[in-house]
Amino acid sequence: MRRLVAETRLGVDDLVAPLFVREGIDEPQPIVSLPGVVQHTRESVRKEVRELADLGVPAVILFGIPTAKDPEGSEAWNPDGIVQVALRDLRDEVGDGLVLMSDLCLDEYTDHGHCGIVTESGEVDNDATIDLYAQAGVAQADAGADVVAPSGMMDGQVMAIRDALDDEGHEQVAILAYAAKYASALYGPFRDAVDVTIRGGGDRKGYQQDWHNAREALEEIRFDLAEGADMVMVKPALAYLDVITRARAEVDVPLAAYHVSGEFSMIKAAAANGWIDGDAVMWEHLTAIKRAGADLILTYFARDIAEALHP
Ligand code: PBG
Repeated sequence: MRRLVAETRLGVDDLVAPLFVREGIDEPQPIVSLPGVVQHTRESVRKEVRELADLGVPAVILFGIPTAKDPEGSEAWNPDGIVQVALRDLRDEVGDGLVLMSDLCLDEYTDHGHCGIVTESGEVDNDATIDLYAQAGVAQADAGADVVAPSGMMDGQVMAIRDALDDEGHEQVAILAYAAKYASALYGPFRDAVDVTIRGGGDRKGYQQDWHNAREALEEIRFDLAEGADMVMVKPALAYLDVITRARAEVDVPLAAYHVSGEFSMIKAAAANGWIDGDAVMWEHLTAIKRAGADLILTYFARDIAEALHP
């Protein structure tokens, strides 16, 4: 009876698997604060994506860790940068069998760890940064990305990327905008995963949203849609279910939510201590995100869910 009347069902079609690929390593590297998640080699990411496609997971989103970082994050738009080579490998591996998304930001590539260029006075230079995002978006699209996902929260980033993609003949490449991204303390394990420390103990409050605010998130979403975003995202997920619900009520484009690294690791850590049933909490949390109104969920549990649902 419960199955018959369930209002919400989490399915494999809802899932996007975030994957890390690191340049210059021979073996996958475990990420201590993200148990079970690794920094992949080019070879191992290929295998993982093949297996995810076979499990029916419809999409992955790639993050790169370059060997060399610099003030501008130039590996982000290098045609031979790690994400670009991985995208080519993956397109070759799975053809059109799976949607390839790429996170579009500079923090994994800059030596100071900010999501953009930093001026001498220590401010992030919004307008200079979005030009670099546009270049990175074109490099990712050239390499085969179906969807680019700008996560840097710079003003005007979606329009800059859309214009550049269109100019280069990539009208078909979609933009998933991290539209309502909060300056959250839940990204800690992710920063281990991509070897990012913000220089000088800084934070991202200058460009990410203040978690006291919800209306502001709706305004960010409206801006991104007006600039040409095809899908929008709320991030993190669980502490922002109200924002997801409000966004759902307001927009009719596909709405994504990112169940972020800290949300995943809290479950893993409590489960490892025997304090909670990790599997049960995984289902409860991810179903809640769907119930709140998300159409697609980026989650490090994608493979676990897919395996559990696989016939
Ligand atoms: C920025 C980016 C971050 C995450 C996704 N894209 C980190 C940040 O804003 O500091 C976090 C994802 C997670 O915690 O799982 N490129």
